[in-house]
Amino acid sequence: MNKDEQKALEQKMKARYAEFKKNFKPTPEMPEFNFPEPQLPEGPLPDTELAATQFNLVVAENECKMGSIYHKGADGKPFFDFTAADRLRDFAKKNGQDMRWHTLVWHNQSPDWIFKNDDGSKVSREELETRLKNYIFTVGERYRDDICSVDVVNECISDKNFVLRDGADRSQWFDILGPDYVDKAFFWAKEAFPKSSLVINDYNLEMVPGKREGMYKLLKGMLERGVPVDTVGLQMHINVEYPPVSEIEKTIELYGSLGLKVIVTEMEISMYADREQDKGIFEERKEYTPELLEKQAARYEEIFECFKKEAKAGILKDVVLWGITDPMSWKNNFPVPGRTDAPLLFDGEGKPKPAFDRLCK
Ligand code: XIL
Repeated sequence: MNKDEQKALEQKMKARYAEFKKNFKPTPEMPEFNFPEPQLPEGPLPDTELAATQFNLVVAENECKMGSIYHKGADGKPFFDFTAADRLRDFAKKNGQDMRWHTLVWHNQSPDWIFKNDDGSKVSREELETRLKNYIFTVGERYRDDICSVDVVNECISDKNFVLRDGADRSQWFDILGPDYVDKAFFWAKEAFPKSSLVINDYNLEMVPGKREGMYKLLKGMLERGVPVDTVGLQMHINVEYPPVSEIEKTIELYGSLGLKVIVTEMEISMYADREQDKGIFEERKEYTPELLEKQAARYEEIFECFKKEAKAGILKDVVLWGITDPMSWKNNFPVPGRTDAPLLFDGEGKPKPAFDRLCK
């Protein structure tokens, strides 16, 4: 792209963004969450054995995030720590599994230093671009042959107005780089990971029609501008009540209609629907009765029936669960710290739950 084309692109995106902002009504403020780290049980985990034997694809829950890898040394220069990411890559290789990369650009779990100069002031756009490119290309250099798909940009749609999350909505990437940071990240990722599919990943797309539409509009524009996005990642942090399978189907087919592939990237089915979450009201911890476990199993089954249909139609490519045994799930601490949940396929001893049995029928 030459300078004039670049300028024209930026202007077009700015105009488009202004139009988005004008047309969308804000939704009520969502509470701000932070992410406490789960307390790991003592002793060996059944998760490792299950990961090796029951799954054909792995992804790191935290170890491939920028904050885990990209650091600033005492000499003021950036350095990379690939210890944990390498370990997972070796695990996948040993077990003949595919590996996904989660994630390159995200407003959460990015290192704080990257947005700042040495004196603590905000870094310039040029400098942040250099730091981000340095990151994307270094990661690509090391892992490009091992990674089937990369989450290039994670959670970039705002829950408030369904357009790109901006600085006021915690995206320092948007704040410093401007609205075309998403396009640019994909162009760089295409260079860095030429063989991997390039994913835009987000949550609640199957839950909130406005957000689904907002993502659709963003993607349509990206495709028109020739941005090399090829896959939409549906995180699918869903629950035993909601959303209905028809909404999931609709979502997959909507993105499929753009010629994109879809993958499910972080699925689990929480026991808690938390219908009044937007008012800050959450359900109390409940007992996981046999009836509730059956209900969860039926949900997994009906949703996987839909997945099989969409896979046959050539749209859905992978389904990834966000964890293996219940006690290891991030949902034990989110959105309510310490309210244990049981959203996955295996219990704490590594025994299959009714949901696992249904999926294996
Ligand atoms: C979560 C991890 O599961 C937690 O261990 C961590 O404390 C916070 O992040 N969307 C994402 C994932 O894209 O990276 C998040 O993972 C869950 C929500």
